[in-house]
Amino acid sequence: MDYQFSKDFFWGAATSATQSEGRVVGDGKGENIWDYASTIYNHRFYDGVTTEKTSRFYEDYQVDIQRMQDLNFNSFRTSISWSRLIPEGRGQVNREAVAFYHEVFDELNKKGIKPFVNLYHFDMPLALQEIGGFENREVIQAYRDYAQLCFDLFGDKVAYWFTFNEPMIPAEAGYLHDRHYPYVVDFKRAAQVLHNIILAHCEAVKVFREGDYSGKIGIIMDVIPVYPRSQNPADLKAAEMADLFYTRSLNDAILKGHYPAELGEVLKAYGQMPEDIREEDLALMAETKIDLLGINYYRPRRVKARESVPNPDGVFSPEWFYDNYEMPGRRMNTSRGIEIYPQGLYDIAKKIQQEYDNIDWFVSENGIGIQGEEQFIEGGIVQDDYRIEFLKEHLIWLHRAMEEGSNCLGYHMWTFVDCWSWINAYKNRYGFYRLDLETGEKTVKKSGLWFKDVITQQGFDQKEKIKEMTK
Ligand code: FCB
Repeated sequence: MDYQFSKDFFWGAATSATQSEGRVVGDGKGENIWDYASTIYNHRFYDGVTTEKTSRFYEDYQVDIQRMQDLNFNSFRTSISWSRLIPEGRGQVNREAVAFYHEVFDELNKKGIKPFVNLYHFDMPLALQEIGGFENREVIQAYRDYAQLCFDLFGDKVAYWFTFNEPMIPAEAGYLHDRHYPYVVDFKRAAQVLHNIILAHCEAVKVFREGDYSGKIGIIMDVIPVYPRSQNPADLKAAEMADLFYTRSLNDAILKGHYPAELGEVLKAYGQMPEDIREEDLALMAETKIDLLGINYYRPRRVKARESVPNPDGVFSPEWFYDNYEMPGRRMNTSRGIEIYPQGLYDIAKKIQQEYDNIDWFVSENGIGIQGEEQFIEGGIVQDDYRIEFLKEHLIWLHRAMEEGSNCLGYHMWTFVDCWSWINAYKNRYGFYRLDLETGEKTVKKSGLWFKDVITQQGFDQKEKIKEMTK
C-alpha cells in the first residue's frame, strides 16, 4: 500500500444536530437561534430552505448508522442539540431528548462506531440568546451546567467530547460579518463573545476534569492557514495580522493558555478591547488543557498588504490590516468560490507539531461542497471522482505529515449524508450519500464506496504522482 494508515486510525464523517436531525418542532424540543431565524429571516437562506429540511437523522438514525457501518466507519461526529436537551437552555430537561441521544450512542457503540460528541455547533437556545447569548456571563454558567449534564448522562457511552465547533464562527459571523443571527456588526462585541466562549470552553473542561469521567475532551477549530503574496515586509506583516486575528487569537488562548501579546497591543491601540476581561478569566485559561484537538480544514487564505484602510470611519475589522490576494493560477472550487489547496493540511500539521507541542489531533472536517451534483449521476449514483481526488490529495499530505511525526489520530470527512448548510442550505452538496430533496432518498456516492475501501485496507495506492505535490 502506498499510503498506509495505522490500524487504530479513526475514519468516519462529521455532522451537527441542526444540520441533520430535523424534528425542529415537537418531541419537547425548544427553539434555537436557527429555528428562529428560519421563520423571521427566511430570505437569508438559499432558496428559502431552512432548518426543518434535513436528512431526518432524528427519525432515521438507525438506518443511517447502518449506512455508516456499510461504509466501515469506526467513528462518527455529531453534536447534541442544546435546545433539544434543555428547551430553555437551562432548567427543565427534555426526557425525549435524553432517550434519543441514549439510543443514538448505543446504536453507534453496538456497531463499533465511536461517537465523537460536540456540545455546541452554532446553535444557541433562543431563550438564552434573548438574555444576550454569550455576551451574558449567565450563559457561560448555563453552558457549563449543560456540559455537566451531558457528561453525567452519556459519559459511559461517549469517550470523545468536544466543547465547541469552530468557536470563532459564532463571534465572527454573528457579531461582525452579519451572517448568523443575531446579525450584529460590532468588533468589540464580537471580541467579547469570543472571550466568553473561551471561558465557557474552560468551564466545561474544568467540570470534566473535576468529575469522574473517563474519556478525552477537546475542541474543534477551523484553521485557515495564511500565505503572503510575497516575502516583502508589508505582505509578511499583512499575513501575520490575518493569522493573529483569525487563528492565533484562539489557538494560543486554548493551546498555550494565553492570548498573543500582539493582539492586546493592537486592540488597545485601536480602542477595541472588550469591556469585560478579568484576572480570574486569564488564570482559568492558563490552567485549562485539552486532550485532543479537532481541525476543520477547507481552504487557505492568501493575503497581500493593503494600500489603505477600506472604511476607516466604519466598524473596525481585521480586514483593515490585510487584503485578499487572488493568486494567479490558483485552483478553485467554483461552487464555493474558495481555493483548493491540499498542502494546507500538511502546513497545519507542521504548525501543530512545531508550535503547539505536537498535541494529539485529528481532521474533524475536510471536504468539498459542489453545486449541481445531479449532473454527475450515472447509473443511479453520483460519480464524484472530483471528491475522490480531493480526499486523496488531502490524505496524501496528511500521511506525509504523519510520517514526519505529526500525531494525527483520524480523518472525518464533512459530511455523511448531504446536509443543510447554515446559509447556503442545499446549494452545495458535501456528503458520501446523496440526499434527494424531493423523495428524501439517500444513495451512496462513488466517493463513499471508495472511502469504504480505504478504511478496509487502511490506506490506498496512488502510483502516479499527484501534480500539486511539489515539495
Ligand atoms: C464548517 C462548519 C460545518 C459545515 C462546513 C461546510 O465551517 O463547521 O457546520 O457547514 O463548514
